[in-house]
Amino acid sequence: MRIKAFLFDLDGVLTDTSELHFLGWKRLAEEEGINFTREDNEALRGVTRRESLNLLLKGRQVTEEQALEMMERKNGYYIELVGQMTPADLLPGALKMLDENRRIGIKQAIVSSSKNAWLVLDRLQIGDMFDAVIDGNAPARSKPYPDLFLLASKAVGVPVKECLVVEDAEAGVQAAHAAGMRALGLGPVDRVGAAELVYDSLQRHTAQEILNFFN
Ligand code: BG6
Ligand code: MG
Repeated sequence: MRIKAFLFDLDGVLTDTSELHFLGWKRLAEEEGINFTREDNEALRGVTRRESLNLLLKGRQVTEEQALEMMERKNGYYIELVGQMTPADLLPGALKMLDENRRIGIKQAIVSSSKNAWLVLDRLQIGDMFDAVIDGNAPARSKPYPDLFLLASKAVGVPVKECLVVEDAEAGVQAAHAAGMRALGLGPVDRVGAAELVYDSLQRHTAQEILNFFN
């Protein structure tokens, strides 16, 4: 089946917010006397806010009220950092590919687990380039479940077999496959090697080249 839509993950694909998530979680961890390294942070890629907190707590028991407060606190730190983002924080090659897709009539959507997706899109000034934005506020199970991608397929009006997912997280590639979609993985093979096609990043690649590979 020919690809007619690109479903882009946001964090780690179009912009690199993982450093900002790291700084937010790190500040919380320090306040709570928990050791949290950049290496620990890698396991949080593509993972929801709640699961991120669970990983950060490393088995420490907290009440539901404490957990909610901690997630709120970290999110406050994160939002502060996102406020400093500008269009210059788009990853190399991202804007060019979004422009190209629009020019050649390929539909495109954002499919992100983040509840802050719109905030980030506004900072990057690319919100108007998408036919749909499906984010962590959707009443759906998070990746690796297929739910968010299935919602996006409906929203852009393109059948799953004609949607291509672009992801930097293992759970994202799994979610794509669970939805019956093919995937372009961005990053190391040990993370996104399950994808049908793997690139280091979008830089120096074109949408047409990707379409030629899949079609
Ligand atoms: C994903 C990020 O896109 O969104 C994760 O890769 C993040 O690192 C998740 O935890 C949830 O984000 P937020 O902004 O709702 O806390
Ligand atoms: Mg991601």
